[in-house]
Amino acid sequence: MPAADFNLDGKVAIVTGASRGIGLSIATGLAEHGADVVLAARKPEPLEAAAESVAKTGRRVLALPTNVRRIEELEQLVTKSEAELGRVDILVNNAATNPSFGPVQDIDERAFDILMNTNVKSAHFLSNYVREAVLRHGQGGSIVNVSSVGGYAASDVIGGYSVSKAAIIMLTQVQAKSWGHDGIRVNCIAPGLVKTEFSRALWDNEKILKEATASAALRRIAQPDEMAGAVVYFASEASSFVTGQTLVLDGGRLL
Ligand SMILES: NC(=O)c1ccc[n+]([C@@H]2O[C@H](COP(=O)([O-])OP(=O)(O)OC[C@H]3O[C@@H](n4cnc5c(N)ncnc54)[C@H](OP(=O)(O)O)[C@@H]3O)[C@@H](O)[C@H]2O)c1
Repeated sequence: MPAADFNLDGKVAIVTGASRGIGLSIATGLAEHGADVVLAARKPEPLEAAAESVAKTGRRVLALPTNVRRIEELEQLVTKSEAELGRVDILVNNAATNPSFGPVQDIDERAFDILMNTNVKSAHFLSNYVREAVLRHGQGGSIVNVSSVGGYAASDVIGGYSVSKAAIIMLTQVQAKSWGHDGIRVNCIAPGLVKTEFSRALWDNEKILKEATASAALRRIAQPDEMAGAVVYFASEASSFVTGQTLVLDGGRLL
């Protein structure tokens, strides 16, 4: 075995929000390192296109349309993954939304529920189902949650999102503490500004982009592919003694 083992041969990974952006890049990175991958998102057509792209790695790839806000669909996601690919070893809770841009007091109840159900509740319940799947094969597993620098630094324009992403950092610690003895490690990434559809309102705004660029040590924002390496690290044996941690991938913006 190599001293630093990033190999994921024989592993099966589920990635939510995998039809584009950071999730698609993560799914591709996991497959490039040997994992068979299940891609989940709501819209079937982009999901199929993403699956075709990931399948170019030569790994087995499954596209399972899923709305992470529906608990029964989360359970089916795990059941179908096991039925089709035999097991589940890795989960990446990446799907998230931000339905509100503006002062925190303007978030109405519906938007708040959508935010928390998509960004926090889904990660809680899907992780529980994956834990059960990992216990069924008994060979351990790795969960990677996706937070944001917004989970550390308060935002006055996406404040509700900040609250949800701070919850993900603590969910990671709680799951890690509870499931270490089950052989399940749980870690987290906290990206800074990444050029995807999700954050278009930020990087398309000249003033915000300028500020984000100027305040980052690396003087730029990120491309989606710059997030995958950390997830491969957390998913693999290379991080075998690491659990409960959140790695900030922000080009030095929080420094
Ligand atoms: N981009 C950034 O600057 C940035 C910074 C920090 C953290 N992040 C985090 O990184 C993660 C990925 O963001 P991204 O920028 O890659 O976003 P994105 O390009 O908008 O992609 C979001 C993905 O999530 C899926 N999705 C959204 N709602 C869903 C739902 N209810 N059920 C299932 N899938 C759903 C989307 O597909 P469907 O619409 O078809 O469901 C899509 O595949 C998120 O957790 C985000 O908070 C992003």
